[in-house]
Amino acid sequence: MQSDLDQILISPAAISARLDALAAQMGKELPREGVVLMPVLTGGMVFAADLMRRLPNRLTIACVGASSYPGVRTASSGEVHLAGLEQARAAARGKHVLLVDDILDTGHTLGALRDALAASGALSVRTCVLLRKDRAAARAFSADFCAFDIPDAFVVGYGLDFNGLYRNLPGICMLKPEVVMRAQMQAKAHGQGAGA
Ligand code: XMP
Repeated sequence: MQSDLDQILISPAAISARLDALAAQMGKELPREGVVLMPVLTGGMVFAADLMRRLPNRLTIACVGASSYPGVRTASSGEVHLAGLEQARAAARGKHVLLVDDILDTGHTLGALRDALAASGALSVRTCVLLRKDRAAARAFSADFCAFDIPDAFVVGYGLDFNGLYRNLPGICMLKPEVVMRAQMQAKAHGQGAGA
């Protein structure tokens, strides 16, 4: 299955160095108190775990889930399913929310979450992404914090998956183009819109 993988795009050492710098910046720009850091599960969990341990701010943690329907997937359908939203809304009330997600692609996931939490009485809602794809929709979203800009390719590792696999890779890898193409053809044949 590792044969699905193409080149390493970002090494574990590069991730670690960038997180040091990003956390130093965020520590200064975020409020010192009243922050709730919200990992977007499942993809954002690895990034969030490494980021939060570098932040000096007094913060609490509350998770929220986002996904599309399961199956063979390499692109976003635009349909976002949120899980645990009621608890997330309760945790956001009266707090400065920091949403932490793995990747900004179409912006549908973070857009839906930001709107839902802003409407629930949060003092502010900021977004932080590990990766931002080089595409107009991702750039238009304007995340508050971003660790890396990457090409518009399907990537896995460090929390990101392909059909549930590869989340545990320590770095970010690209999938082989033929694997992406095969997955897209399969999704089309099964009438799947693909997922977030
Ligand atoms: P949107 O389009 O809502 O996408 O900004 C965010 C979610 O889509 C998934 N996604 C990917 N997952 N490799 C992945 O493993 C990718 O290249 C990729 N692009 C989008 C991901 O779940 C993310 O939270």
